[in-house]
Amino acid sequence: MSGGRRPMLPVDTTEEQARALDAADPLAGYREQFLLPVTPDGEPKVYLAGQSLGAQPIAARAAVERELEAWARLGVDGWFERDRPWVSADGVAREATARIVGARPSEVATLNTLTINLHLLMASFFRPADGRTAILIDAPTFPSDRYAVESQLRHHGLDPARDLIVVRPRAGEACLRVEDLEGAIHEHRDRLALALLAGVNYATGQLQPIERLTAAVHDAGAVALWDLAHVAGNVPVALHDADVDAAAWCTYKYLNSGPGALGQVFVHERHTAAAGPAGRRLHGWWGNADETRFLMAETFEPDAGAGAWRVSTPPILSLAPIAASLTIFDEVGMPALRAKSVALTAYLEGLLDALVPDADILTPRDPTQRGAQLSVRIPDAQRRLADLEAHDIVADFREPDIIRFGMVPLYVTFHDAWRAATTLADTLAEADSAGS
Ligand SMILES: Cc1ncc(COP(=O)(O)O)c(C=O)c1O
Repeated sequence: MSGGRRPMLPVDTTEEQARALDAADPLAGYREQFLLPVTPDGEPKVYLAGQSLGAQPIAARAAVERELEAWARLGVDGWFERDRPWVSADGVAREATARIVGARPSEVATLNTLTINLHLLMASFFRPADGRTAILIDAPTFPSDRYAVESQLRHHGLDPARDLIVVRPRAGEACLRVEDLEGAIHEHRDRLALALLAGVNYATGQLQPIERLTAAVHDAGAVALWDLAHVAGNVPVALHDADVDAAAWCTYKYLNSGPGALGQVFVHERHTAAAGPAGRRLHGWWGNADETRFLMAETFEPDAGAGAWRVSTPPILSLAPIAASLTIFDEVGMPALRAKSVALTAYLEGLLDALVPDADILTPRDPTQRGAQLSVRIPDAQRRLADLEAHDIVADFREPDIIRFGMVPLYVTFHDAWRAATTLADTLAEADSAGS
């Protein structure tokens, strides 16, 4: 069931060790830049739910207020006047975003939200023709992705019962073996049009080798589209060099940009010529090049890059926190974030192994096959989550019996990990002795 063998090294489970690890953490100060949910006494909770909704950067409020103030003061002139005109607001995070996902700035854009963006990308990249009509997805699939893919198939007059290929983990295993995914891609190479794959699986926390699987999809003559909701800001990736065709993600998880914050896309620069997927893009005026949009011409003049996939006016108030949050990523850099994430996640893993033998860690044990999330199958998971919440520890639950812990390196401490593991151990022991 679990993500592999337990590590053999003994773990120091003392609180002093947790404190010592925090004292030696070069990123410890960044926690001060976030507002964490608080207890009724005003104490910050242990917030391990960043894989669901990232914590609020303190800078987010000022960023939103600046736009409210500009709206009040300038009205419609806010679109063009002042140092940060709204007309180019969706481009301000481009460079920082490109650094986070390993892209050229022109290959990324900020627009809509994730599922919508998957639809827009599939409108361009899913072109069933000449017997290639199938879409392949990995399981467990985030439901929205599955609904999107099934509806795309129906939209083209196809039948998901025939044209949707779902690759599942082997019986008794939680994670999908890469070789099984590659095998399925190869097996269906004659009919595969597109693969939509999750970079990090939402349920298990498994990280897939993006470059390797993209190459397998290309070998099969198909398009590789990635859902990177649980990757962006979590694991360093190099989308351009990995030759990914296109990808989409949200900014409300590891990118800490607020509930329902705008999504982002990557489109490889080799796809922006009109002859390819760009020629099948769905258009709106915001995809027009910034310089000529307001000429109100009859002819669409696309942005030279991924920005051409934008359709409508961006929601300025929702955009504002993104740039504020990404400033922190630029300052820290993905390598330093990743280094702490690996250490923190391994630390929680070691504590759970040592203190909570009933916890079955589904996430791969190999740090190169996971990000900052540990998914743990545990008896009576929903009650255990409620127990944790009663001790001011916020994690989250996914059906049927999984607690997910997000060890987000910007604001989670080693002491938070220690509190989560020891509290879980204590509450399990109490539940056992109460016979519940
Ligand atoms: C992996 C994954 N895909 C898709 C979605 C759907 O995102 P949205 O509601 O922004 O469309 C989520 C949301 O959490 C997700 O985790």
